[in-house]
Amino acid sequence: SIIPVILSGGSGTRLWPMSRQLRPKQFLPMVDQLSLFQNTLQRLQGVTELEEALIICNEEHRFMVAEQLRSLNLQHQGILLEPVGRNTAPAIALAALYLAQQGKTEALLLVLPADHVIQDQAAFHQAIQAAAHAAREGYLATFGIVPQHAETGYGYIQQGETIAGLTAKRVAAFVEKPNAITAAAYLESGNYLWNSGMFLFRADRLLAELAKYQPDIIAQCQLALAQPRPDLDFIRLQAAAFAACPSISIDYAVMERTTDAVVIPLDAGWNDVGAWSAVWEVSPHNEQHNVLRGDTLTHNAHNNLVYAEHRLVTLVGVDNLTVVETKDAVLVAHRDHVQDVKQIVGQLQTQQ
Ligand code: GDD
Ligand code: MG
Repeated sequence: SIIPVILSGGSGTRLWPMSRQLRPKQFLPMVDQLSLFQNTLQRLQGVTELEEALIICNEEHRFMVAEQLRSLNLQHQGILLEPVGRNTAPAIALAALYLAQQGKTEALLLVLPADHVIQDQAAFHQAIQAAAHAAREGYLATFGIVPQHAETGYGYIQQGETIAGLTAKRVAAFVEKPNAITAAAYLESGNYLWNSGMFLFRADRLLAELAKYQPDIIAQCQLALAQPRPDLDFIRLQAAAFAACPSISIDYAVMERTTDAVVIPLDAGWNDVGAWSAVWEVSPHNEQHNVLRGDTLTHNAHNNLVYAEHRLVTLVGVDNLTVVETKDAVLVAHRDHVQDVKQIVGQLQTQQ
């Protein structure tokens, strides 16, 4: 059986001012009427052998998560509440240990970030089946995307030999967030894929790799899950034990180091919706290549993204702008600089 494990603890600072600490991007309808989190679950419908999902999120977001599940009538097998964020390795460790406690040690965990867009659902489902095949044999499967530019915010996977009988290639090397020069060389070589950040592995296999490379995480997560206190659908943890976990991503903790990683190529219109430029790319455009949401008017304006939440927003004679209007803040940014929106969020945090 395949159990989706949904990582929804991120903060999405580059999508400010829509994305806020109490309502980060994964819980917002960024590209259609459903939230990214709801879309993540919805697009799994029809995957064979799929069980109910396990959600891992920050305690602060629990009612929003529960409500978004309820409004789609989505069944799940629990919502693990993190008292603090410790990045993805501890979050995934919690999920694997919790399922092991339920006797599901050999379940296949399909780890999915809650904030990605995937256009071609059928191609995605096919890749999941190929990954499940490899994961059953004990491999740790990742989904690899053909790189389009020398992105430094992603992991890179060097493809090794094809594994007999599987649609998977060995991961010859995994490099998380290389510098710009290295990323450019990887792009040039043609032999690297982007790590999509989605994984599929058996619970027991992941736990064995974590025990090898990050024994502290296993020890602290075991303590954190020692006496789970069920509270509605929520699973609460021993806060101090979890807070003592090293904060590290699964990419650095396991994927860079394991010798049993394989990669499944994924060509399905994947986008991690990291910044406003990505929202523009994945959203429907009008004839002027503008993406307009809410009450907007434009004249002689092209390639803009406009989100108007509370007021009429109008553009005249400007191109390549991102304009996001909310009740208490307005962002105006050039499309080529939207990665730097996090700088503004940083300034706001130091002001507080
Ligand atoms: N529950 C929980 N707790 N979820 C978390 C936490 C946490 O502490 N930290 C992050 N997440 C969630 C985020 O919400 C996101 O959905 C996912 O885990 C990945 O975290 P990011 O912080 O977005 O990772 P990244 O973008 O820097 O890098 C990862 O994704 C890239 C592709 O988008 C890596 O896997 C890269 O290798 C990969 O290329
Ligand atoms: Mg990300």
